Amino acid sequence: MEDSMIVVTTPTGQIGSRLVLRLLDQDRKVRVVVRDASRLDDSVRERVETVVGSHDDPAVLDQALSGAEALFWLVPPNPRAPSALTHYVHFARAGAAAVARHDVGHVVGVSSAGHGWPVPAGVLSAAFAMDAELSASGAAYRALSMPFYMENLLRQLDAICAQGAFHLTCAGDLPLALIATRDIAGVAAGLLTDLSWTGQRNLPVFGPDRLTPDGMAEVIGEELGRPVAYRRVAIDDYASLLRSQGAGDQTVKDVTDAFAAQDHGIYDEDWAAAEPTRTDFRTWCREVLKPAADARTS
Ligand SMILES: NC(=O)c1ccc[n+]([C@@H]2O[C@H](COP(=O)([O-])OP(=O)(O)OC[C@H]3O[C@@H](n4cnc5c(N)ncnc54)[C@H](OP(=O)(O)O)[C@@H]3O)[C@@H](O)[C@H]2O)c1
Repeated sequence: MEDSMIVVTTPTGQIGSRLVLRLLDQDRKVRVVVRDASRLDDSVRERVETVVGSHDDPAVLDQALSGAEALFWLVPPNPRAPSALTHYVHFARAGAAAVARHDVGHVVGVSSAGHGWPVPAGVLSAAFAMDAELSASGAAYRALSMPFYMENLLRQLDAICAQGAFHLTCAGDLPLALIATRDIAGVAAGLLTDLSWTGQRNLPVFGPDRLTPDGMAEVIGEELGRPVAYRRVAIDDYASLLRSQGAGDQTVKDVTDAFAAQDHGIYDEDWAAAEPTRTDFRTWCREVLKPAADARTS
């Protein structure tokens, strides 16, 4: 099966781009679905098959999945969607139907940790609904189930560099499970290059440490060589901020329900069951955050 065709969605994204490189490093046959092929690195574009379009389009999926054995599936974040559930299910239904039409044997999807959480968890619940659609496709399926991405902090690089602070809604002394996107790509690459797995299940993918935001601030400060503080934002204030940026009621609810679930421990059960990946928070700060901060300030 070494020459089986692996289809990768979102090849320009944080996870997808790293996944493509890992697959190419192993000389695998890769076909990417991309809206704008010029956004791929030249070295990647030369070595992959390219299908141009979005993976919520059945015609694009027909082109992409023809003769494919395996699929990496990721629903792109869309804060402007009327609801997270509608958005995820729209993509997932198109994906699942195409997987069934083309008899694709294995699908690896980017989901969230916390399946089975008893109350609505906004965008996280939308990802669980996506898993249900893809599981019903008939393919073997792994729902990669992750907590908070370390890369989320890159969006706060300006504040970290200029004000020496970052903000989240969770309590400063409550441990938050973390994952580096390169480790997610590593797990996905492992699954897509060894298709001996069967059935459908959730696979918790967690980094090795679980730090409090206050502890994260300490590590960031040590690695950047300057003091960094964690500042908690009340969830109601965060909702007001989203509204002031034009978010509708459902979008605000999708985000704040997810944050509330995070605060109430939605990741805990999967954290306990996960086999930890390699990248701890300090290593990530040293190898990813610090070079990004240095580039910003130089
Ligand atoms: N952040 C977290 O803490 C967290 C935790 C658990 C799960 N997740 C899940 O992780 C996923 C995000 O992964 P990521 O960080 O790798 O994503 P990302 O870096 O934001 O990349 C988004 C990708 O989607 C593509 N894209 C955007 N809009 C599109 C559209 N309408 N049609 C087709 N492609 C489109 C983008 O491509 P172009 O713009 O180049 O076309 C890009 O490749 C989400 O599903 C999220 O729910 C996130």
